[in-house]
Amino acid sequence: MNILLNDEIVSRENAMVDIEDRGYQFGDGIYEMIRIYDGLLFEWEAHLERLVRSAKELMIPLPKGMEVLQKNIHLLMKESGVLNGSVYIQITRGVSPRTHHFPEIADPVLTAYVREMERPLEQIRNGIKAITTEDIRWLRVDIKSLNLLGNVLAKQKAVEQGASEAILVRGDIVTEASSSNVFAIRGQECFTHPTNQFILNGITRQVVVRLLESTNLTLVETPFTKEALMEMDEVFITNTGLEVCPVIEIDEQLIGDGIPGYYTTQLQKAFEALLLELIPQ
Ligand SMILES: Cc1ncc(COP(=O)(O)O)c(C=O)c1O
Repeated sequence: MNILLNDEIVSRENAMVDIEDRGYQFGDGIYEMIRIYDGLLFEWEAHLERLVRSAKELMIPLPKGMEVLQKNIHLLMKESGVLNGSVYIQITRGVSPRTHHFPEIADPVLTAYVREMERPLEQIRNGIKAITTEDIRWLRVDIKSLNLLGNVLAKQKAVEQGASEAILVRGDIVTEASSSNVFAIRGQECFTHPTNQFILNGITRQVVVRLLESTNLTLVETPFTKEALMEMDEVFITNTGLEVCPVIEIDEQLIGDGIPGYYTTQLQKAFEALLLELIPQ
């Protein structure tokens, strides 16, 4: 596997992480994961915009190679030969002797690599089971930072209970899930948490918000409770890997009829249509 290291492509063996890289010691860094469909980067501009925003919020200077990042990612994709997969991009504050405060001199380190990935069609078609758990994360999860322990522990809990996602609840409000945004439909209203410091503004979420215009659903961006969630007709999650994925069971209770709902399926079709539009046949 080849790695983009700042503005150079090197082999994985030569892409060394310094023991005092602040990403490694403090999780002091940010990342993005972007989907590649048929050799094309999906929603590149939106991901880049979010990466730049995360850097700004954490006061990480943009590293060497940022101005030619898209070109370098395309080179990396070409070299990897991957047509369907994902690209992971990470920027850390850089290397310096370990102190909590920002170092006076440190060059941020950018790394990126490409991986092959299939669309998870089984989950997309049949839906997934989720659990609910307390949202124990910090109060700036709008920043896509490397600090993911709250997410990791929640996902682990889900997996241990035979589910594939953990829906996070702060107080009694559903925020998002461990690695996805949550949408819930009741009647003709589609509820999702507003974008603020309590959720990551998912790129797939943004796409779905646009796609909702092609349905009879009204978007309601408002906090809702776990109790309300359990009474919804349909629930689905969105992220870069799972796209639009039905949630058919939460905490061992069926949602609706326990099968992917009508509107979720409509949105999935709209998402597929968008992909077909983007990918030249
Ligand atoms: C906590 C969290 N929320 C939401 C998302 C969805 O974001 P996106 O649609 O940009 O993949 C992710 C993606 O990894 C995530 O980790």
